[in-house]
Amino acid sequence: MTKRWEPVHPAMTGMLHGGDYNPDQWLGYPHILDEDDELMKLAHTNTMSVNIFGWSALEPEEGVYRFEWLDEVMDRAAARGGHIILATPSGARPAWMSEQYPEVLRVSSNRVRNLHGLRHNHCFTSPVYRKKTQQINRLLAERYGKHPALIMWHISNEYGGDCHCDLCQDAFRKWLQVRYDNSLDKLNHAWWTGFWSHRFSSWSQIESPAPHGENQVHGLNLDWRRFVTDQTIDFYQSEIVPLRELTPDIPVTTNFMGNYPDMRPFTGLNYEAFAKHVDIISWDAYPAWHNNWESTASLAKDVAFVNDLYRRLKDGRPFLIMECTPSLVNWHEVNKAKRPGMHKLSSVQSIAHGSDSILYFQWRKGRGASEKFHGAVVDHAGHPDTRVFREVAEVGRLLEQLAPVTGTSVDAKVAILYDWETDWALADAQGFGQDSKQYVRTCQEHYRVFWERNIPVDVITPDKPLEGYQLVIAPMLYMLREGFGTRVEDYVRQGGRFVTTYASGMVDENDLAFLGGFPGPLREVLGIWSEEIDTLYPEETRELVDADGNVYAARDYCELIHLEGAEAIASFSSDFYQGQAAATAYSYGSGRSYYLAARHEARFHDAFYGKLIEELSITTAIPVEADAGVSIQVRSDEETQYVFAMNFTEREQPVQFANDAVLTDMATGEQQHTSFVLPPYGSVVLRTER
Ligand code: GLA
Ligand code: ZN
Repeated sequence: MTKRWEPVHPAMTGMLHGGDYNPDQWLGYPHILDEDDELMKLAHTNTMSVNIFGWSALEPEEGVYRFEWLDEVMDRAAARGGHIILATPSGARPAWMSEQYPEVLRVSSNRVRNLHGLRHNHCFTSPVYRKKTQQINRLLAERYGKHPALIMWHISNEYGGDCHCDLCQDAFRKWLQVRYDNSLDKLNHAWWTGFWSHRFSSWSQIESPAPHGENQVHGLNLDWRRFVTDQTIDFYQSEIVPLRELTPDIPVTTNFMGNYPDMRPFTGLNYEAFAKHVDIISWDAYPAWHNNWESTASLAKDVAFVNDLYRRLKDGRPFLIMECTPSLVNWHEVNKAKRPGMHKLSSVQSIAHGSDSILYFQWRKGRGASEKFHGAVVDHAGHPDTRVFREVAEVGRLLEQLAPVTGTSVDAKVAILYDWETDWALADAQGFGQDSKQYVRTCQEHYRVFWERNIPVDVITPDKPLEGYQLVIAPMLYMLREGFGTRVEDYVRQGGRFVTTYASGMVDENDLAFLGGFPGPLREVLGIWSEEIDTLYPEETRELVDADGNVYAARDYCELIHLEGAEAIASFSSDFYQGQAAATAYSYGSGRSYYLAARHEARFHDAFYGKLIEELSITTAIPVEADAGVSIQVRSDEETQYVFAMNFTEREQPVQFANDAVLTDMATGEQQHTSFVLPPYGSVVLRTER
């Protein structure tokens, strides 16, 4: 049973609806503000995020401030009864600053300093940039800290990337000195620098990874990524000093990015670490709906996975969708418009998994530069008579009805473990198949089984407790941090069920291979030893047979394992490892652990987890029958269940709840039949008392 979370700001008693609003791009168009006021009401919005890239409008010349436009935006919001999420403008800065203080500009890994341009192009160590940022943030907090419209700080924008300037190199060396207790010996050991004669004899020899320098020492790569996360958090903490001082009651967030495989280059930060420093999690969701490489349901499952991860970053506290598009983006390979119904469906999905907002990028399309054709609530046409505007207004009306859902969360008995550092280390690992490692996709394939069965799942990072879950699944847990093996042993000994797979328990947190046999510290609890891994070409498969004689295929990876107490529940029936275990089970203490020694096909996962689900009596949050492409998710508090029924297929789909269920349609307030048909991309939110 889940509790209802207190709002992080007292004004947040309902769902937030609105988004990025850039009146600073329209300073010469005074009538636009009047139009916006009108349209914001018509669209049923209540919250705008402003000033995200407003610095050159606020401080056009060094020390010359123009707050009048922002005053007006804040006052108009208050007059409308709306909320403002006020951004600190550090995501991009005025040209005068780069010209006057070149140290604020980032240096790339090739050691070339960037020119002024784009955004997110600052050095996160530069004392000048930190000072300038604190100055402008202090002025904002002094001026607007008590403004009735202000409900939250939006710190910078999508922090990411790194800087390799001399200041950052020094900071990196200091960070390493702390990490390795001032001992170069410790560092040399952790980085295995005997390899290729890489031993360091002085701290000054150490440099960040570079394309024309060092990039093959995995411990260095990993520590650089950790440093980048820590230094970004450090920059963020320096940004919020004046805000914490002057506005201690205004919550602080920064917008994270997803972890879709197609967003790989941007997933630079470890959000597990960052999450501890924000008051509320928010993230920007841009799935490529209607793409030509996967079904809508398959993508919906991936999006659900990410939402379930973000919900757990703060232990179940609802998060915010800080950005999503009401129609299309401008940066996918093909920028497809959301089909009718899709916007409502994807919004309902975010709410279903724990979001307390639907906020857009962007409110109004700009006239020029690279984002002029990015989707927005208000089109260049400038009036509300568009398909997109109507669908946004419909979502706005629905969100008003969903106010009671705010603060409720999801109750899950199954956890899937996702680890940013394993993702980094696996991506860096040379070996395996370079294209087939697919860590995130593998986690999402295991997640699929539960999503298709409407069984709630928490996606958790390794810092979270395992206790309380009936089943914990850790696919490809390549890197194990100190003590994790013991935690799994305790969990299973006390009755937990733990599943892991090939390529787990191979390296410690310095990316050094475990000695004495894989899966390292998980060997005892799994009762197996993994001796070899065989990588297959994409077109190859290997056969395996389970105890009932069912035949399945494995792809990409097959491990040759020895039983050390565990029993085989499936065995390979082809290749030189014919007869060896392809999956095992082991009773340990009062629990049981499982090892899947190959990348089994989906059918195997369905059968394997199907049995476990039955054995453990793991149920959906509410009894229901529907197609696998229909998702039923539940948010609840002590009294009420909020049931989200979503059809991610292109066909009509029947949904059948138990005959005696009493369901109310939250949009209309009317009683809903227990059996109904959802149109393609249809969605409905229902309420039922426990
Ligand atoms: C990101 C940024 C926004 C905007 C959108 C476009 O999420 O934060 O400023 O550029 O992408 O999709
Ligand atoms: Zn720098």
